[in-house]
Amino acid sequence: MKERLDKLLASTGRWSRREAKELIREGRVAVDGCPARSGEEKVDRASGTVTVDGAALTLQTHTYIMLHKPAGVLSATEDPRQKTVLDLLPEELRRREIFPVGRLDKDTEGLLLLTDDGDLAHRLLSPKRHVDKVYYARLDRPLGEADRAAFAQGMVLPDGTRCRPAGLELIGDGSEVLVTLHEGKFHQIKRMTACRGSAVCYLKRIAMGPLRLDEGLEKGGFRPLTAEEVAKIGGKP
Ligand code: URA
Repeated sequence: MKERLDKLLASTGRWSRREAKELIREGRVAVDGCPARSGEEKVDRASGTVTVDGAALTLQTHTYIMLHKPAGVLSATEDPRQKTVLDLLPEELRRREIFPVGRLDKDTEGLLLLTDDGDLAHRLLSPKRHVDKVYYARLDRPLGEADRAAFAQGMVLPDGTRCRPAGLELIGDGSEVLVTLHEGKFHQIKRMTACRGSAVCYLKRIAMGPLRLDEGLEKGGFRPLTAEEVAKIGGKP
């Protein structure tokens, strides 16, 4: 697939889109040996050779970052007042135009994938694909067998929202649970447990499809996905 040259240069993380345009204007960029004229020029990163000041660039396809989201930051790329998950990353990564795949509430912790691969994000979030998301929750009142059955059946929330069948695994006396969702509605777990008379005190996502939160990552820590993880989620390394 062909991409705009300025976008492709920015995707290396070395230049912003504006800086990339400047490089092109200064005649420092060549595509397949010919000086580039405009950022709009289309390049195939799989087969094209792009040089800057004569040095060939390694054209990595996409960026995939696993973040251990801490509480207190928004799952957004920017916000005028509040800290976002992108503020936790270094400038070099922020330049790659990455975004969070789906949202966790501000007070929810755990696994968040950030990428610039829009196709993959679409596939992981598509309701048709039923990608499992697993959460650990601590509750103010234990849930029990009847609640497990209600989750498994598919609940209808007081406002009429229909939830797909979800997994509820009770830990100990049921004041800790593992919830498996196959969709991602607004505040879904908080609303489902509230419907059964129990409030969430703490919520952490531990898995999304085949991806598990690396427990070696501190809150606020991040790392690139391994090649194996990228392959498992269907990304393009
Ligand atoms: N369910 C919630 O209530 N909050 C989240 O952040 C994720 C799932």
